[in-house]
Amino acid sequence: MARSVLYLPASNARALEKARTLPCDAVVLDLEDAVAPEAKADARAAAVEAVRSGGFGPRVGVRINGLDTEWGGDDLDALAQTDVGFMVAPKVNDASDTRVVLERLQGTTRLWAMIETPRGLLHMTEIAAMPRVEALMLGVNDLSVALGAGASPDREPIKPWMASMVAAARAYGLLAIDGVFNRFTDSEGFAAECAQGRLYGFDGKSLIHPGQIEGANAAFSPSPEEVERARALVAAFTLPEAEGKGVIRVDGEMMERLHLAAAERLLARLDPRG
Ligand code: COA
Ligand code: MG
Repeated sequence: MARSVLYLPASNARALEKARTLPCDAVVLDLEDAVAPEAKADARAAAVEAVRSGGFGPRVGVRINGLDTEWGGDDLDALAQTDVGFMVAPKVNDASDTRVVLERLQGTTRLWAMIETPRGLLHMTEIAAMPRVEALMLGVNDLSVALGAGASPDREPIKPWMASMVAAARAYGLLAIDGVFNRFTDSEGFAAECAQGRLYGFDGKSLIHPGQIEGANAAFSPSPEEVERARALVAAFTLPEAEGKGVIRVDGEMMERLHLAAAERLLARLDPRG
């Protein structure tokens, strides 16, 4: 699961401590945009230490600096000495960028590729097809600037890219992680954007503040109505009159076995603790 993917600057000791107590599905220790140039080396050392000492819940990853910067290579080499679960690569433009990072990844570390440049948008399918890539992440802040797109409350200018990213991720069995919502004190706006991401098919959202975790976990989990509908559909297909049928009628709607399979997948995702 990757409903809630929380970023924090690896240079922020308090946030590192706090992140160990938070109910997010994944934590990303950032070495890139959230860390000032003069703090890069200390942040790298802090990230290595934090990954080694662990305690972060289900998944922990590190976002390295781009390999075209003076820090990226050192970031990769330092993290290669740990068993970090995944590495987030920023501003991945194409398959060749992806390959360069993959060649230097150690052991079982997976790659989460950030799509946040115009070239990345145009090549996301080939990026998704590369081995060991586990997730595509939409980098909305860099992307909006690079596109020259204006601010729009419902993300009008990037909707086509949201849909394309989900398609690329699904085509190759990857996670699709939606971008951050900067106004972290606006919980209503955040909930609306989570719902929009879910509607597009994203698996979860990139987060910047602990106050966003609960909303993301709820938004990217099956809702009570979805669970109820799924259970009703499974029940309807188990009735004797449904036997041998590919398609049945439920509540005035046509339901096919593909809907049954989707309902079964949804129910399988439910937290066994209820
Ligand atoms: N991860 C873990 N803990 C965090 C956190 C994060 N991303 N953001 C804030 N916290 C902690 C604070 O340390 C504080 O802890 P405490 O009260 O127990 O000491 C608590 O949550 C409340 O924080 P708050 O005062 O509301 O926020 P702030 O003003 O300290 O920080 C930001 C605001 C935006 C600077 C901060 O949330 C942040 O750095 N976010 C991540 C930015 C990032 O990584 N960007 C890169 C990806 S786009
Ligand atoms: Mg960025």
